Amino acid sequence: MSAQNYVSPMLKEGSLNGKVIVITGGGTGLGKAMGKYFSELGAKLVITSRKIDVLQKTADEISAATNNEVFPFSCDVSDFKQVEDLLKASIEKFGKVDGLLNNAAGNFISPTERLSNKAFDIIINIVLKGTYNCTLAFGKYWIDNKQKATVLNIVTTYSWTGSGYVVPSAAAKAGVLAITRSLAVEWAKYGIRFNAIAPGLFPTKGAWERLMPGDLQNKFDLKKKVPLQRVGEHQELANLAAYLISDFSSFVNGEVITIDGGEWLNGAGQFNILNAIPAEQWDLIEKMVRNVKGS
Ligand code: HXC
Ligand code: NAP
Repeated sequence: MSAQNYVSPMLKEGSLNGKVIVITGGGTGLGKAMGKYFSELGAKLVITSRKIDVLQKTADEISAATNNEVFPFSCDVSDFKQVEDLLKASIEKFGKVDGLLNNAAGNFISPTERLSNKAFDIIINIVLKGTYNCTLAFGKYWIDNKQKATVLNIVTTYSWTGSGYVVPSAAAKAGVLAITRSLAVEWAKYGIRFNAIAPGLFPTKGAWERLMPGDLQNKFDLKKKVPLQRVGEHQELANLAAYLISDFSSFVNGEVITIDGGEWLNGAGQFNILNAIPAEQWDLIEKMVRNVKGS
């Protein structure tokens, strides 16, 4: 594989022909990148978030590029009534929904002791409640109408490790992962699959301005945390998401796929810090270790 191949579209043309996919947080960042690729592959999209002007611009941009319909619909996913309106509008527009990508999120860095209970609520309401609101509304519809479907949830690698300074997000994403694994089993009998993607570092305006504001980007070179020494490209995430939302992954259910260049394991492995030792020092270190005899 040539060096740039990972930024090329992966699936064959028409892989999502005839599919209708709803993407929360679909107007910006990773939601927009995944949506654009789904549309290139033939899907019809409903993109949703709170800001209709942003959604409209993205919808126009994507459909101009792909010639496929993109329907922008304003919805705050933390409000169940608005999610029910989203479901109704999607069905009215396209007659069915085949896939739901729960991608909307809110996050910011803060020492936890500085947070008000409202600050905690706002993140839980977008990420955890938003995901279960959409899952419940669309899921009940699919079950009542005996329609097969697939749900893809976007989590993070700290869904299972936890992380300081983003505690509301870590708690919410852990909950989303639990929903993914629980319903993968419970709703399989209805033909509804659940999977999740845990992206590592994928630069977007929304995440970077809130998680690495101002000078912090220069202070912490995030690439250094990644064994592969780079951040992710939006297309490589879109390739994985398209596979998981497509019928090609029909036997993949309840899985969380990490795409982070090895970042979280680098932080977890006790001796991974030894990466910092230059190769030429290993002769001396080996000698010292071999010289240790007995206890
Ligand atoms: C402490 C804060 C705060 C901060 C807000 N609050 N920002 N507290 N530090 N930096 C508090 C407020 O004081 C208020 O509590 C409460 O949170 C609600 O704030 P509002 O501004 O009224 O909320 P709202 O306008 O709805 O904005 C929500 C938001 C905002 C989450 C704060 O950032 C947003 O809309 N974000 C959406 C997009 C986003 O976050 N994208 C990044 C996803 S990245 P009080 O008590 O004062 O009233 C991601 C990456 C994960 O998830 C992993 C990366 C590697
Ligand atoms: P982003 O561009 O800020 O995306 C977040 C989206 O969520 C926005 O479009 C926002 O639109 C929408 N949103 C927020 N609150 C909402 C609400 N109440 N109702 C409906 N929509 C709402 O950031 P991103 O980096 O692309 O993040 C996308 C996903 O990837 C998130 O789940 C994030 O946790 C995950 N992720 C990102 C990274 C990364 O490195 N970028 C790493 C790991 C995981 P509005 O403001 O218009 O509502």
